[in-house]
Amino acid sequence: MRLFNGFTTCLTVLFLLHLSTHIQAYTPGEVFTISCGTSGKSFDGQRTWLGDSDTKYLSTQDGTVSTKPTKSPFVYEVPYAKARLSRLQFNYSFPVSLGPKFLRLFFYPSSYLSFPRPDASFTVLSNQFTLLYDFNASLTADAENRETIFKEYVVNVESGDRLNLSFIPSQPNSYAFINGIEVLSMPTDLYYMSDTGFKFLGSDTLFSFGTSFALETQYRINVGGRAISPSNDIGLLRNWVGQDENYLMTENTQNNDSGGMNLSVNPDYVAPKELYRTARNMGTNATFNKISNLTWVFQVDSGFTYMIRLHFCEIDPNITNIGDRVFKIYIASKSAEDHADVMNWSQKQHGLVVQRNYAVFIPNNNNHKKVDLSLQLHPYGDRRDSIYSDAFLNGLEIFKISDRGSNNLAGSNPEPLQTPQNNVPIQKAESSSERGTTIMDIVVAAVPSIILVSIFVYLVVFILRTEAAATKSKDYKSKPTTTPLPSDLCRRFSLVEMKAATNNFDDVLIIGVGGFGHVYKGHIDGGSTPVAIKRLQPGSQQGAREFTNEIEMLSKLRHVNLVSLTGYCNDNNEMIILYDFMPRGDLRSHLYDTNKPPLSWKQRLQICIGAASGLQCLHTKHMIIHRDVKSNNILLDDKWVAKVSDFGLSRIGPTDMSKGHVSTAVRGSFGYLDPEYYTTQRLTVKSDVYSFGVVLFEILCARPPLIHTAEAEQLSLANWARYCYRNGTMDQIVDPALKGKITPECFNKFCDIGISCLQLDGLKRPSMNDIVSMLEFSLQLQNSAEQCENSAIATEVVNQQDQNTTPSRSDQDEVDVNISLH
Ligand SMILES: *[C@@H]1O[C@H](CO)[C@@H](O)[C@H](O)[C@H]1NC(C)=O
Ligand SMILES: *[C@@H]1O[C@H](CO)[C@@H](O)[C@H](O)[C@H]1NC(C)=O
Ligand SMILES: *[C@@H]1O[C@H](CO)[C@@H](O)[C@H](O)[C@H]1NC(C)=O
Ligand SMILES: *[C@@H]1O[C@H](CO)[C@@H](O)[C@H](O)[C@H]1NC(C)=O
Ligand SMILES: *[C@@H]1O[C@H](CO)[C@@H](O)[C@H](O)[C@H]1NC(C)=O
Ligand SMILES: *[C@@H]1O[C@H](CO)[C@@H](O)[C@H](O)[C@H]1NC(C)=O
Ligand SMILES: *[C@@H]1O[C@H](CO)[C@@H](O)[C@H](O)[C@H]1NC(C)=O
Ligand SMILES: *[C@@H]1O[C@H](CO)[C@@H](O)[C@H](O)[C@H]1NC(C)=O
Ligand SMILES: *[C@@H]1O[C@H](CO)[C@@H](O)[C@H](O)[C@H]1NC(C)=O
Repeated sequence: MRLFNGFTTCLTVLFLLHLSTHIQAYTPGEVFTISCGTSGKSFDGQRTWLGDSDTKYLSTQDGTVSTKPTKSPFVYEVPYAKARLSRLQFNYSFPVSLGPKFLRLFFYPSSYLSFPRPDASFTVLSNQFTLLYDFNASLTADAENRETIFKEYVVNVESGDRLNLSFIPSQPNSYAFINGIEVLSMPTDLYYMSDTGFKFLGSDTLFSFGTSFALETQYRINVGGRAISPSNDIGLLRNWVGQDENYLMTENTQNNDSGGMNLSVNPDYVAPKELYRTARNMGTNATFNKISNLTWVFQVDSGFTYMIRLHFCEIDPNITNIGDRVFKIYIASKSAEDHADVMNWSQKQHGLVVQRNYAVFIPNNNNHKKVDLSLQLHPYGDRRDSIYSDAFLNGLEIFKISDRGSNNLAGSNPEPLQTPQNNVPIQKAESSSERGTTIMDIVVAAVPSIILVSIFVYLVVFILRTEAAATKSKDYKSKPTTTPLPSDLCRRFSLVEMKAATNNFDDVLIIGVGGFGHVYKGHIDGGSTPVAIKRLQPGSQQGAREFTNEIEMLSKLRHVNLVSLTGYCNDNNEMIILYDFMPRGDLRSHLYDTNKPPLSWKQRLQICIGAASGLQCLHTKHMIIHRDVKSNNILLDDKWVAKVSDFGLSRIGPTDMSKGHVSTAVRGSFGYLDPEYYTTQRLTVKSDVYSFGVVLFEILCARPPLIHTAEAEQLSLANWARYCYRNGTMDQIVDPALKGKITPECFNKFCDIGISCLQLDGLKRPSMNDIVSMLEFSLQLQNSAEQCENSAIATEVVNQQDQNTTPSRSDQDEVDVNISLH
């Protein structure tokens, strides 16, 4: 034991010596490097790990298990040698100062004692951010073909003095686990830049994000060089991977070294000098360069905005002047630089490093499915523009930016590997080995496995290409140009009219920011008519499909409780939809996080009835499933009439009612999603009913559907409402502004309706028809009680409520409610 300690100390000393040979500009004030499920200290050559069993960071060890994986190639390697696991939520909390932190998570999906490998599925929250959502660890590791999973985030601690981390199993029979956690303070200006912003590709605007956003590192690559390990980073323990060839699509490139050139990195924590000592370039074969791009392709989750940071340093002594080596940069096929000239950026200084940041929005494709993000450098072939026809890059970082509003960073789980197409060739290969080993097999085995690998890679590439081609043609079909829009049904506006209406899309007129672009308040017809103008992000294929979808649907739908279409504009690749302007905005902005006065109970009931009638019309008259029912999508006109809006996600329901559902990838908003739809992917009108149930409780309780910082049982409004209903404590969650204003009859009826919408079994949920009638009935109950009250004794009802009057239910998981109209 003493020997071992001595060895560790020796290693640590070596480690420190090693560090001291680097000029270490930045020393993080706070470092927590935690090996979960262990006690004592251990060193892995990069970091000194501290066991969580001896620290106060883990809120409680009760209910968690710390154990070794049953099968491990890393048995002796911290932090993967042990894990902390639980089928219940568990939390860590780190005492930190304000400011941005690196948060790193280390996972080794394996079977642990009584925790089978496939059962790990959990959500990870940190302060207000969702880092992972229903994360299936084994599926992710298998899809990425790796043993361990490493995640790095940048989270800014804005208030309080703690960085909290919660691990929440997805279902009662799944579990959460973690092997290692690292929290490290970092320079504020490293990734949060206080300057005026950087290019937002595909738009003319600059992009900037404040410290209220979190980042997830997607890629950090030493281009043209070898990996730089965490201990060789400048104090921040970042991992710079090498082998950019893994992402490279261009052949015949070179990787060059700066030799003994003196490099200058300022501030020096931006990146280690080693990053800039190597670069990848194309070479100066102008004939070849003219016909190709230097291209890398990275997989990212769709539906997020990404920050791409490119690191450059001119290390070629032959390049001495501005204009010597100029090239173009494209990111996701959008132009990022037309005239990238590193010599100009570095003011003609060799060895002075520069970084360039870009933001690009990757439109959502099928619920955050992974898509390709390309980086392309294209040399000028003409000596007028550039003496050398070449392009180069030293390093690159790609970050996902958390979603505004939902604070989400989680993508979806990857698809399981097997698809019918790639089963065929793989099965053939396997069946030959199953025959038992023969001399032939041994000979075959002796042939370098590279061939097999190449065949496999070829097949995968082939399948991906075929799929890409298929998606392309599908997208193409749904382009507005091929589906003529109904100009006879609604007005078509020109882009000139739209610019006039919005003062050339002036930012001060923005009244909403949605997944597909901005919503402006504008005036048409010479300024006389106010309208809401939704401008879709230009060039988004997904947007194009939903654009057509929404216009086609809206032009057919006319109902007092549905937002109506004023017209659209489809000039010059712009996709713009005009709606009647709703002066009172959305329902949510009247419920919580607001300065607006609280709505009265009767106003709320009338809004519920209006919204329910709008959905009823969609369901029964048009067979349309809304798919994104939520309080932000219920708008209010000047007379407080509720109008259901946002049909971008809508689907035409099954016309053949015997089938009763449509199979589709899950869409919608967290907190409102029907769990049945989520698990079965079968979309029915009852999924809208579930989401509407959540809205009913939002209205009653004036709280958001999800509060990440709340205690587990209160986190989801739907679960919390069911919980209180069972325990007969419903009156405690009512919006304080409504206390004493709701009659008990009306209150009980309203809760019954809400809970019946939230039934886990969709078949047990009422139809929108029933809901409208029941809500109207509950309004009558309120009215008649108030009339009695006016003529007789006033009663403060909700305050007086006790166990006799509040609904009290048995402690079943599934709540059974009698739905009766009277
Ligand atoms: C995780 O994914 C695997 C592979 O698709 C699946 O077998 C397993 O049931 C999933 N686990 C959970 C908890 O959903
Ligand atoms: C972290 O958790 C502690 C205790 O659970 C709580 O008091 C604190 O408000 C939380 N901080 C944040 C930022 O969520
Ligand atoms: C860059 O690489 C090419 C090919 O590998 C080589 O010919 C050239 O001398 C290298 N330049 C430097 C500065 O190392
Ligand atoms: C690099 O800097 C050192 C000290 O500043 C100097 O001695 C050396 O000559 C420089 N090397 C080059 C290649 O400029
Ligand atoms: C330039 O590239 C083309 C295409 O790869 C190749 O055929 C040609 O030989 C190259 N020329 C030189 C000078 O390397
Ligand atoms: C610089 O240019 C000269 C003359 O064209 C050439 O011989 C030499 O190889 C080049 N050096 C590098 C590093 O490319
Ligand atoms: C390079 O890539 C950009 C962006 O995808 C593309 O527009 C351009 O045509 C490509 N250039 C060549 C020469 O392939
Ligand atoms: C050099 O960069 C500046 C701004 O960064 C730009 O205005 C100028 O046109 C560039 N010069 C050349 C020759 O590219
Ligand atoms: C974890 O935190 C949540 C709320 O932040 C709390 O309700 C729960 O009791 C905590 N769990 C444990 C095991 O400490």
